[in-house]
Amino acid sequence: MIVLGIETSCDETAISVVEASLTDGKPLFDIHSNIVASQIDVHKKFGGVVPNLAAREHVTNLPPVLQEALKKAKAPTIDLIAVATAPGLIPCLLTGTHFARTLSWRWGIPAIGVDHMEAHLYSPLIEKNMAPLPAIALIVSGGHTMIVRVDALGDHTVLGETVDDAAGEAFDKVARMLDLGYPGGPAISKAAEKGNPHAFQFPRPMKDSGDYRFSFSGLKTAVLYAIQDLEKNRPDPFPVNDIAASFQQAAIDVLISKTKQAATKYNAKSVWLSGGVAANTLLRASLQKTLGDTPLIVPSISLSTDNGAMIAATGALKWMLTKPASNWRTLQAATLHHLKPWI
Ligand code: KG4
Ligand code: ZN
Repeated sequence: MIVLGIETSCDETAISVVEASLTDGKPLFDIHSNIVASQIDVHKKFGGVVPNLAAREHVTNLPPVLQEALKKAKAPTIDLIAVATAPGLIPCLLTGTHFARTLSWRWGIPAIGVDHMEAHLYSPLIEKNMAPLPAIALIVSGGHTMIVRVDALGDHTVLGETVDDAAGEAFDKVARMLDLGYPGGPAISKAAEKGNPHAFQFPRPMKDSGDYRFSFSGLKTAVLYAIQDLEKNRPDPFPVNDIAASFQQAAIDVLISKTKQAATKYNAKSVWLSGGVAANTLLRASLQKTLGDTPLIVPSISLSTDNGAMIAATGALKWMLTKPASNWRTLQAATLHHLKPWI
């Protein structure tokens, strides 16, 4: 089937055309087009995403992004529309959801709502098609941090989440404290390359809490206090790179430790890593090293950060596995994530 995926949950207007099939329980995906219109320039001067501005940009960008996605895919016949309906910024989710409703009605084809976190969860399969199960997935984005167990396709259980800030949010906030700009993740990892990860001993919150919950707000505050202390002494040069490297190391240590604990406990045959923070090369490399022989499945960078292909692929998977009675009338944008098993 040919699926159109629409993603507008935050500051990327993204539409993709993906061909998907399911044979003997094995999915196969082929990306025909994957267009992303980034709003970084719009939000940069505010140091973060302004929801209403983002929604306005989506409304402007959706029609040309759709045209480009269809053109690049050589005007395919679409069988299904998949759209991210939750979680995210509600004014933004509304634009994508209503765009999908309109297309579904106009083209007379079904539409399915996709949970943005489920789309991140299954994004490692887009290029890999299938991975050994059971799997443990670490999803690290700007809004969420969670460890999920996948027993079968569509049978996924959240083992734990962050109790406060998400990992990506911590990267963004620390970048802001260090005047590294927005978005913070790539800026921190770039600065960290030139820094010493052992220069500052930042805490590893909840690392040994014995569960799969995370907390990043204490780490963020520890970085703030370190910066404030340093400012009193005015060191020249200010150790921006060392702070970035030490913070990054602390965040990564916690993420890796919990993922490894879950993989061991549940005897995972593969570990999946996804979400925007999965673009972090140190996280990818360190996690694989810690896991040893257990395969780590990570999407390429363009499929780690928000994109329409993960929405199309996950919508297709959900459709093929559950055959829901879904049409445009039932599509609703929502704020909370569900991540409930489909089967
Ligand atoms: O999944 P995503 O694109 O959007 C959400 O669903 O939130 O994730 C965005 C997050 C941002 O916080 C961004 O700073 C972070 O991913 N990020 C990174 C890197 N690239 C993006 N964090 C660490 N290192 C990176 N290289
Ligand atoms: Zn995301």
